[in-house]
Amino acid sequence: MIVFSPGVVKLFGEHAVVYGKPAIAAAINRGVRVRCVRSDRTSIRAGKAHVDLEYDADRGSARAMGAERFLSYALASLKTAERAFGPLKASFEIEGDFPPGVGAATSAATSVGVIKAYAACAGADVGKEELAKLGHAVELEVQGAASPMDAAVSALGGVLRITPYPFSYKRLRPVGRLALAVLPRRGLTKDIVADVRALKTRRKSVDSVIDAIGAVVSEAEQCVEAGDLECLGELMHINNWLLGALGVVDDDVISLLKHLRPFIYGGKISGAGRGGVVVLLPRRPEVEEVLSGLGIPAYAVEVDELGARVL
Ligand code: MEV
Repeated sequence: MIVFSPGVVKLFGEHAVVYGKPAIAAAINRGVRVRCVRSDRTSIRAGKAHVDLEYDADRGSARAMGAERFLSYALASLKTAERAFGPLKASFEIEGDFPPGVGAATSAATSVGVIKAYAACAGADVGKEELAKLGHAVELEVQGAASPMDAAVSALGGVLRITPYPFSYKRLRPVGRLALAVLPRRGLTKDIVADVRALKTRRKSVDSVIDAIGAVVSEAEQCVEAGDLECLGELMHINNWLLGALGVVDDDVISLLKHLRPFIYGGKISGAGRGGVVVLLPRRPEVEEVLSGLGIPAYAVEVDELGARVL
């Protein structure tokens, strides 16, 4: 049995969503595949991340080798699924389309994928909204602070406008093809979110930046619904400058966006920032080619409307 859980691209509103502002994010057709087979012991193996985890549900103990950060998501997902669906001995194999930690919500897709695969392997039915909630619980446990956005969009699929607290969502019109550029990542989501919080505590005027991001999200919703790519691109640039004011957009992103200007409607960081994924709205088809010419890993992606599912 194999589950696919989509990665998530943040189109508008990351960081501000942590403080209650709405955000718009899209599930994409690249993400994580989790294979589950019942077995006499519980283990998780992740090919590309070179990690290996054995979980003894009877003793509640785990033995692990490999990327510690990834393993903490995997283990927290197993324990969350065990609480929700009862004990299960099974081996899980995880394969991701992106390297972990690039900012395409690989951690949320992994959590959502493992929980969905656990439920399916245990013969339990898990609704998309319950899956979103369980995935968010894992993010909270591992990261300390996390909005429900990434887990919800991976579980539910589509382009969603998220209201974080209390959680609700609205499905928006699919946007067309997106291009992703992956820059070297400096820092973990958890630490970057903490830095923004510290800045917000130190400087009162940061509240106005957060409010302005919220206003961009509201305006962007109209542009998504109208299919107005010029408007979306312009608002992506504005959102990116506002994220710059929060200290999460480095010079390499600014230079890249300047270089790509003739080829895109707009672009911005996607996620916590400090490198990682830059999401681009292509105006011309050769964006990925230009990125490859610059030696920057690039992916063309489409919106995944279905969300996490058994294949
Ligand atoms: C991370 O993918 C997005 C942030 O807004 C954090 C969160 O929503 O939990 C930076």
